Amino acid sequence: MNKTVICPGSFDPVTLGHLDIITRAAKMFDRVIVAVLVNSAKTPTFSTEERIELLREAVGGLENVEIVSFKGLLAEYCKKCGVGTIVKGLRAVSDFEYEFQMALANKKLNPELETVFLAADADSTFLSSSMVREIASMGGDISNFVPACVHDRIVERLRK
Ligand code: PNS
Repeated sequence: MNKTVICPGSFDPVTLGHLDIITRAAKMFDRVIVAVLVNSAKTPTFSTEERIELLREAVGGLENVEIVSFKGLLAEYCKKCGVGTIVKGLRAVSDFEYEFQMALANKKLNPELETVFLAADADSTFLSSSMVREIASMGGDISNFVPACVHDRIVERLRK
């Protein structure tokens, strides 16, 4: 069976934590669709196009990964694409309640949908896009937090 999964997120911007989850999902499944949320409640720092470009560069070597954007409900988008599995990373206990709520809500909206959680890499448990934005905007070093190939672009963009 050819197994396709979706890794959804804001990716504002992509971090090494995201890349770790995407890379591991790409080893476990035949095809990984990384889905960037367009209509977030809050306005993202990076535009949808920028977030997609950074992700494309970051996952460059992974042949079974593609990057798309989606609007509206994830459960509906999965139904439309015929994908039945969401893959998400869990960093710490603090993530659990929110992720668990989303997984249950998504299943109510689309009973065919399963959510699989991958434990975040130990080095990424504290890492978030908002932390990257804050550190970089204050001139701090984010080289341990974002993929090397997109580091300079993120820094340049956030210092503006
Ligand atoms: O990277 P994030 O911000 O944790 O990703 C959250 C995301 C994009 C997966 C979530 O907000 C989402 O799926 N939004 C789409 C709208 C939706 O389906 N909301 C109901 C989820 S219960």
